[in-house]
Amino acid sequence: MKRIGVLTSGGDSPGMNAAIRAVVRKGMFHNLEVYGIYNGYAGLIAGNIKKLELGSVGDIIHRGGTMLYSARCEEFKTPEGQKKGIEQLKKFGIEGLVVIGGDGSFQGAKKLTEQGYPTIGVPGTIDNDIPGTDFTIGFDTALNTIIGAIDKIRDTATSHERTYIIEVMGRDAGDLALWAGLADGAETILIPEAKHEMEDVVQKLKRGHERGKKHSIIIVAEGVGSGGDVANKIEEMTGFETRVTVLGHIQRGGSPTAADRVLASRLGARAVELLLEGKAGRTVGIENNKLVDYDITEVLGRKHAIDEGMYRLSEELSI
Ligand code: F6P
Repeated sequence: MKRIGVLTSGGDSPGMNAAIRAVVRKGMFHNLEVYGIYNGYAGLIAGNIKKLELGSVGDIIHRGGTMLYSARCEEFKTPEGQKKGIEQLKKFGIEGLVVIGGDGSFQGAKKLTEQGYPTIGVPGTIDNDIPGTDFTIGFDTALNTIIGAIDKIRDTATSHERTYIIEVMGRDAGDLALWAGLADGAETILIPEAKHEMEDVVQKLKRGHERGKKHSIIIVAEGVGSGGDVANKIEEMTGFETRVTVLGHIQRGGSPTAADRVLASRLGARAVELLLEGKAGRTVGIENNKLVDYDITEVLGRKHAIDEGMYRLSEELSI
C-alpha cells in the first residue's frame, strides 16, 4: 500500500482533528502518501480530495471541529453514490481509507468494504454510542462542556430556589446524560435506556423539598424527548418554579480534552496500522485501555448499551 485517504463524516466531535493528524503522521512515518477527502462522503463523490503533508496537520491537535469538514450525505447511501466514490478513490490512486465518524459513517465504510475497498472505521462522535469501544472520540470533551454548563446553572438554581431541566444531546443514547448526571449530582437522570414514570420523578422532587432542598437539577437525554415538555409537566404536577436549558450544539464544539486527544491519536494511528497489515472492514476502539479492532458488520449489528451499574449508582446517590 502506497497511498491512503482519510475523511470525517456525520456530526463533528472534538478530537477529530487529533485523529486526522495521527492518520497523516503515522501514514507518513511508514512512507505512505496520505490524501484528505474534504466534506465527508459528499466530498468523496465530488472528488474534493487533496494530498496532505506533515504541515497540513500542524497546529490542529488542540482545535475542535474537523479541518476536513464534515457532512451527512444521502447520496452515498445509494449504490450509485458508492460507485461514484470508489471511482474517485481509484482516480486518485487511493488504496485504503480511514473513516472517522459515528454510526452513519460506519455504514458507508461497511459498504465500501463490501465492494472490495479496504476501509477502517474510527469512532468519532460525542454520543458514545458505538459498540466495540468503551469511549468514542469527543465524548469526554462534550461531557466536560455539559458539566461546566450545569455548574453555572446550579449557581442560579440555588439562588432562585428553582428546578432546572437540562436537555443534553446523545441521539438515542443516554451516555452523555448519565455521565453528566453522575458527575454533577443531578437529582434525576432521564435516559432512553431506562423507563421512567413522571409520578416517580415528581415524588422525588417533593421529598427533596420536604427536606428543605429547594433547587434541583434534572438531566434529560434528547432521546427521551423534549426538556421543555418535562419542565411543563413538572411545573404542572408540583407547582415548583421550573426552567429549562437546551444545551444544543455547544456540546459539539471546543478544544478537545487531553483524554480525547490521546484517544484520537491512538485510534487514528491504529487504523493506519490495520491498513498496513492488509486488514479491511474493521473498526478500532479501546476496551479496558487496550486497543481493539472488530469486524465492522459485526459492530453495526450490535446494540450499544449503557453501563447499568452506573445507572443504578446514580439512583442510589440521588435518593
Ligand atoms: O451524533 C451527534 C449529534 O450531535 C447528536 O447528539 C445529535 O442528535 C445530532 O448529532 C444533531 O445533528 P445535527 O448537527 O445534524 O443537528
